Amino acid sequence: MDLDRTYLQTSAWKSNIFKGKVVFVTGGAGTICKVQTQALVLLGADAAIIGRNEAKTIKAAEELAKLRDGAKVVGIGNVDVRDVQSIANAVETTVEKLGRIDFVIAGAAGNFLSDFNHLSSNAFKSVVSIDLLGSFNTIKACFPQLRKNKGKVIFVSATLHYYGVPFQAHVGAAKAGVDALSNALAVELGPLGITCNCIAPGAIGGTEGMSRLTPPGQRPTETRVPLQRLGSTRDIADATVYLFSPAADYVTGTIQVVDGGLWHIGNMMGDLYPDVIISQGEDEHSKL
Ligand code: COA
Repeated sequence: MDLDRTYLQTSAWKSNIFKGKVVFVTGGAGTICKVQTQALVLLGADAAIIGRNEAKTIKAAEELAKLRDGAKVVGIGNVDVRDVQSIANAVETTVEKLGRIDFVIAGAAGNFLSDFNHLSSNAFKSVVSIDLLGSFNTIKACFPQLRKNKGKVIFVSATLHYYGVPFQAHVGAAKAGVDALSNALAVELGPLGITCNCIAPGAIGGTEGMSRLTPPGQRPTETRVPLQRLGSTRDIADATVYLFSPAADYVTGTIQVVDGGLWHIGNMMGDLYPDVIISQGEDEHSKL
């Protein structure tokens, strides 16, 4: 659910903590990353959001700018995170219009459910390229600004590679790589004053991922979550605010799991496993 000005009264944060800061967000018009950006803008930051779909990105930027008097939010469309030059151009535009970049959220991601037999090599490559190479490209293009401003990075990861999740081989592999990238950069860029952390959302209600990725016939996810509810986009926004706030100045190389404890339960497929795999039988439409 979108955040509005009531967040300032109902959240734990001081209203101006991000005054003078600029955040660069890939996938910033998407359900989760938009709400992360809303929280930062409400708390004083200016923002540049980047996306493939130009109309959607510009519209989201216009809505974000209305959240706070004087907020500056730039929407940059037609950017594909698989193309490092296209992100570098977006960084240039951001610095031209907003003066600097302090925080980066590498949030652009691609996902769909596919069993291994129907997951083509190109489909696997597409998701790994968007999620993992795209995260690398984002930090690569932002690096001069991050170094100059002793910036902070958040990668949007997942929990599904902590164990094996059927139909998600491509995403699990990509997100495992994202965690590894974040850990390595936390060590390599720490001496430059840059922090790198991951947020791993669990089952977040109202997201495209949740509606598309919940297998049909499975009992409601919230009954399996230790905290007995689905996550909200606000839960992810609050974790984001924490990691960018001065309260997390000594926190780097961590993975902040925000899932109500769900991954400890394991077996995402519930009672569907293993029949859902076996019942597919042999089929000649296997994809290369
Ligand atoms: N099941 C199986 N394969 C799929 C698929 C699906 N639902 N969707 C795409 N693919 C395959 C395509 O068939 C293609 O492979 P092929 O060349 O062997 O046929 C490959 O993935 C690339 O597809 P393309 O349409 O060129 O997409 P893209 O490279 O622009 O990548 C995706 C975009 C694949 C991530 C696409 O799913 C997407 O845009 N999703 C919407 C955004 C999204 O997922 N957001 C995250 C929500 S959690």
